[in-house]
Amino acid sequence: MENKNEIFKILLGKIREIVDKQLSLTRKEKLKAICKLLKENVPYYDWVGFYLVDKTKEKELVLGPFEGSETEHVRIPFGKGICGQAAETGKTFIVQDVSKEKNYLACSPKVKSEIVIPIFKNNEFIGELDIDSHKLSPFTNEDKEFLEKTCEIVSKLL
Ligand code: SME
Repeated sequence: MENKNEIFKILLGKIREIVDKQLSLTRKEKLKAICKLLKENVPYYDWVGFYLVDKTKEKELVLGPFEGSETEHVRIPFGKGICGQAAETGKTFIVQDVSKEKNYLACSPKVKSEIVIPIFKNNEFIGELDIDSHKLSPFTNEDKEFLEKTCEIVSKLL
């Protein structure tokens, strides 16, 4: 993808618009619209979804809105898989080659890499954005910065 930063800048504007201006959409619809926007505009984002902390359970994530194929991983305990590890550390977790990650929950054999970005509200970990790619090593620092900004904007919704 040429000039990622230009595309990411435009997408951030669109994400802000979805969050702040699309008043007819529910919170769930806004999250889904953001997943769709990311999946459709970044060619190597093949599955885009939100996992949210289930506050009724002890340290467990539950699948929220997503775009891409169905996944069996609807609930993920903290510590399990790439999502669960990111939940425990509260840090962006990039795996450029999932075949090299032992603590990994496979969704589809097509997936080669994954990035998970935590979402915080008032310093509390409340969920994360999870992106799978069918490409090896596609994620750069630009993706990390862009997706961290995306999660900052999204946290207003949660
Ligand atoms: N691969 C993730 C599980 C979620 S799916 O990617 C949608 C993991 O290892 O936590």
